[in-house]
Amino acid sequence: MVQIFLDSANLQEIEEALSWGVISGLTTNPSLMSRESEPFELLVKKICSLMDGYPVSVEVLSTSADEMVREARHLVSLASNITVKIPMGIDGLKAVYRLNQGKEKILCNVTLVFSLNQALLAARAGAAYVSPFIGRLDDIGWDGVALVREMVELFSRQRIVGTRIIAASIRHPRHVHEVAVAGAHIATVPFSVLKQMTRHPLTDIGVERFLSDWANTRREEKIAP
Ligand code: G3P
Repeated sequence: MVQIFLDSANLQEIEEALSWGVISGLTTNPSLMSRESEPFELLVKKICSLMDGYPVSVEVLSTSADEMVREARHLVSLASNITVKIPMGIDGLKAVYRLNQGKEKILCNVTLVFSLNQALLAARAGAAYVSPFIGRLDDIGWDGVALVREMVELFSRQRIVGTRIIAASIRHPRHVHEVAVAGAHIATVPFSVLKQMTRHPLTDIGVERFLSDWANTRREEKIAP
């Protein structure tokens, strides 16, 4: 079954979403982290402790492979459930490849993926996750969901089993619907979209009608203790 991750660095949102029992992981990025006021490392530790047992993607800020590797090693020392998010590119691929060697095997999520070739290279380098940004592709007139569909097909035809597809940059519930049908392993969803996913006008109308039918006829009868 497709997993839902929360795309957030906000502690209140994370706590609330966890209480619904629907999320299986979390993704952050430097923009999301920059909106919070806590010092970076303290925030990472708090997030990882709330998300105990679930993977949490935290992105490196370095741009060279050597620095990314150093930063990744430091990040995973902060908590045991960290997956290191590495931007796509030659340095990113080198870093993923190195972090995946020997006993170390640090899990990496290759982010800012916008093409099938980028996804293929990330998988070959040893990424545990690849994150196609579907909303940003839609923004420039491409079809983000179509890319996810092609990635799912490629991974299944080529039997690429070690890399999971996280549909990211999700902007509305329809995106979640479509990437789930396309076969993405994971959809990472902002809290606002997660809330929208619970709603349907017919659900609201239905609840209202049930309650008013009951109130209009049997209001005197007590059913709760
Ligand atoms: O976590 C990365 C991603 O989901 C970014 O989304 O809306 O900034 O394109 P957005």
